[in-house]
Amino acid sequence: MGLIPDEIISQVLDRSDIVEIISEYLSLKKAGRNFKACCPFHNEKTPSFVVNRDKQIFHCFGCGAGGNVVSFVMQHDHVDFPMALRQLAQRAGIFIPETNSELGGKTKSLKEVVFKSNELTSEFFHDILVRGDKGSDKAKEYLQARGIRLETAQKLKLGFAPDGWDNLISFLRSKDINLSNMEKSGLVVAKERGQGFYDRFRGRIIFPIFDIRSRCIGFGARAMEKDTTAKYINSPETPVYVKGEHLYGFHLSKSAVAKEDYVVVVEGYMDFLTPFQEGFENIVASLGTALTTEQIRLIRRYTENVVMLFDADNAGELAMLRSLDLLIEEGMNVKVVSLEEGKDPDSFVHEAGIEKFKEQVLSAQTLFDYKMDVLSRRYDAKTVEGKARISAEMLATIQKFRNEVIKQEYVKKLARRLSVSEGALFVELGKIKGVLSGEPEVAKKKIQKASIRIVERNLLRLLLEEEHMIPSVLEEVDIEDFQDDQVRPIIEHIFDLSKTQKDFNTASLVHFFNDQETIQFISGLMASSDFESADKEILKKDFINRIKGDRVKIQRKDLCFQIQQAETDGDHERLEDLKQKFNQLIRGNQ
Ligand code: UTP
Ligand code: MN
Repeated sequence: MGLIPDEIISQVLDRSDIVEIISEYLSLKKAGRNFKACCPFHNEKTPSFVVNRDKQIFHCFGCGAGGNVVSFVMQHDHVDFPMALRQLAQRAGIFIPETNSELGGKTKSLKEVVFKSNELTSEFFHDILVRGDKGSDKAKEYLQARGIRLETAQKLKLGFAPDGWDNLISFLRSKDINLSNMEKSGLVVAKERGQGFYDRFRGRIIFPIFDIRSRCIGFGARAMEKDTTAKYINSPETPVYVKGEHLYGFHLSKSAVAKEDYVVVVEGYMDFLTPFQEGFENIVASLGTALTTEQIRLIRRYTENVVMLFDADNAGELAMLRSLDLLIEEGMNVKVVSLEEGKDPDSFVHEAGIEKFKEQVLSAQTLFDYKMDVLSRRYDAKTVEGKARISAEMLATIQKFRNEVIKQEYVKKLARRLSVSEGALFVELGKIKGVLSGEPEVAKKKIQKASIRIVERNLLRLLLEEEHMIPSVLEEVDIEDFQDDQVRPIIEHIFDLSKTQKDFNTASLVHFFNDQETIQFISGLMASSDFESADKEILKKDFINRIKGDRVKIQRKDLCFQIQQAETDGDHERLEDLKQKFNQLIRGNQ
């Protein structure tokens, strides 16, 4: 997909009022100058999701999601920027010229073509399985032997890819999909020598993978015999399938997940299918890897509570430990089930039944106990070295909790379990964080920085609210006056834009940033309550003075430090130079 011209982007933004658009997705309630709703991006009972019409932004004070109308559509519908813009343009009746005419079809984007090819493919394989032709009897038998009923195969559109090199190629060709698009969809493989392609999936059970909107994005294909080289062959990454961004089965389980307010995460296709078939529906599969941040955020739209149920092998254990740290970083509540050695959820349900499975899930271990168990198997908790190793690894996880009370409680618990002093553990924890490391200078700098940050943020917030002040502020401050790494680039952009764009307004600011963190930061500032009753001119002067004053203070400190160094080094030339600078600085600011 090519670039969409800037003037079209502005047109679409102008004609897409954020309140109107979001109202089509959620029911917004007016609250003062804002509109409020329960956030669609995380699970909550009291609304902390705010939409502001003046600034054309949304922001959630609960999970931090935020941005403009395009960001909303991107996040809500899981589409990229061009796709979101196209949706909005269509709604506003604005025509966007197509830019990828070489990629199949005059009006379809490459992504749409891939979705279409995938959908046709899943139906093709599914029909073969259900109708029982092209040698699919053995596939039916295989699924039956693994306890999968027909209705389950239908719900998940399981299929059978027949033996042979070009069954799918011929079928897709008959549906006007060309080879190049089949390849871009990951469905065919180029022959090594010479020309041509062959079907990627042959003689295997097909598990289509769907995104949360039930669009087919890729496939896993299982061999039916034990002695093949690869048990599963999977789709490669394509324009619609980025590995680690999706969860198998979530399109079917999301409502059960929201209802039960927790989700069980397993590894494999079959580990999802069997419990799901037996009525345990709040479950997803990560497809054989550690959970990624994207997957966790997807889950968080429905629940904050996760029960991890990974295979009890070494790979499973490692994937689990990595997932756990990420889950905590994302502020989720995590519990862990460890099955007996050699069992996975699929085999467990077949052997012990779904009720026993539920029991296992309900009696899941806390993250703390699970990790302690794993580490106690690896290291000897009775030796000094063992205690050091275990405490280091436990603290690395504990440090990730956002809540200080939880951190403290876990440190206490760890101290008891290892029979070491809490004090020692807190010192070690401080070392990881680098704040409590007993260095008063470091701590002081942090505190100082924090107060700078507030003033700079306040000035930025004022500018976002009162854009007519931009020129006068521009005259008085330099971009170097700003110390805050998050504020400075935004101010810089505002200054640039106000100089180059005639009718620049801050409502379009979000559009100039790509990274989610900055966008959320801006929407957060815009959505915060304003300086309503204050005299804004006075505020402005005060903020500027403090920012300039802080800069001088920092420069002075820095010079003092350098002067000290030059004195110890006995570098007289440099010393003179620095002293002169120091005097200038003091004079210039009296
Ligand atoms: P497992 O090896 O645990 O397979 O891999 P499984 O899910 O128990 O499969 P069955 O029960 O033998 O049929 C877990 C997951 O890792 C991925 C698949 O997503 C699988 O479900 N995997 C595994 C692959 O992608 N390729 C492989 O060769 C093996
Ligand atoms: Mn298995």
